[in-house]
Amino acid sequence: MKVKASSLAIALAVTAVSSAAWATTVRDEPITPIRPPQNINLGMAELGKKLYFDPRLSNSGFISCNSCHNLSRGGSDNLPTSIGDKWQEGPINSPTVLNSSLNVAQFWDGRAADLKEQAGGPIANPGEMAFSHVLAVGVLESIPAYVREFRQVFGMDTTIDIDQVTEAIAEFEKTLVTPNSRFDKWLMGQDDAINAIELAGYTLFKESGCVACHNGEAVGGNSFQRMGIVEPYHSTKEAEGRSAVTGKDADRFNFKVPTLRNVEMTYPYFHDGAANTLPEAVDIMGRLQLGRKFTDDENAKIVAFLKTLTGDQPSFQLPILPPSSDSTPRPKPFD
Ligand code: HEC
Ligand code: HEC
Repeated sequence: MKVKASSLAIALAVTAVSSAAWATTVRDEPITPIRPPQNINLGMAELGKKLYFDPRLSNSGFISCNSCHNLSRGGSDNLPTSIGDKWQEGPINSPTVLNSSLNVAQFWDGRAADLKEQAGGPIANPGEMAFSHVLAVGVLESIPAYVREFRQVFGMDTTIDIDQVTEAIAEFEKTLVTPNSRFDKWLMGQDDAINAIELAGYTLFKESGCVACHNGEAVGGNSFQRMGIVEPYHSTKEAEGRSAVTGKDADRFNFKVPTLRNVEMTYPYFHDGAANTLPEAVDIMGRLQLGRKFTDDENAKIVAFLKTLTGDQPSFQLPILPPSSDSTPRPKPFD
């Protein structure tokens, strides 16, 4: 397969760490460092990167995955809830795509098993990209450079289908991990990577019980938990959480625990985007999940710790999208 030497390939090579060295140097903590992505099909990821940035997968020709999961902004849109086709107000906050490959399942309620299954959702969602899989494939089929690239990646006799589209996007998303945060450097033995206040914040985070839900590589993303355990959470939004998938009343208001990686970049917080700042989110978590009111000083320490979780952001050349052909169906932004 022909693969262009891309900045992606170089980034992957530089961050590669042998697993033997890994095991011996990592501190024994409930949070583990982010590993560089493994076994990426680079040709497929490059194609997926184009699709991720291509607004022609939407009805308006204006909305791409990057519109709501902006890779210049921590993989989120920094809005309480997203804006979809025709400026529609979305029902729920857009989670970051960074490190989403580490999630136990996708979406706040986990209704998609993995990234490939997830990626088909927004294209056809009338409140998001408002297109259809058939129309999206039709657009791609009409663009000769895309046809060539799909053939390079999926085989010469291929005709483009939605499965390939979602597989390529998912492969690109697997590269969107953020290793090398200061906290990970500390986990890997570099004592001065975080300061005394940040370390005190981590100790509080651990000892007060935040790690019961926010742990592992993504500091979350690996379980569904009730929002509002000690005190109820009041939301103006209607999301019911995991019960929408399982049909069980006991799962009402259970949400996928969000990752806290890069959390300083992914405001506002919670599924309804109701908390604007980290001090506010930490205060609410302390009271509602743990029955603990943090002092301003404790809160500031935890926030300082959370900010050490910002890792290397994805860094690559912006993809140049192949131009439409004369036969490409034109976007319909206003009807
Ligand atoms: C109009 C805004 C919008 C667009 C466009 C959009 N998304 Fe999303 N995305 C969201 C929202 C909102 C959610 C959360 C929905 C939910 O949980 O019910 C989400 C969830 C996700 C998740 C799950 C993350 C997690 O932690 O659960 C991934 C991955 C994702 N989107 C990737 C994509 C990809 C890939 C595309 C392009 C094909 C895309 N999104 C297009 C708004 C958008
Ligand atoms: C019982 C499990 C649990 C515990 C304990 C817990 N959390 Fe959470 N945390 C969650 C869940 C679930 C959400 C998502 C809630 C929602 O969106 O409605 C969340 C959301 C957050 C968010 C917002 C992230 C985002 O992107 O929206 C932050 C910040 C956070 N927690 C920090 C903490 C801190 C700090 C502690 C300790 C004081 C803590 N959490 C304790 C389960 C927990």
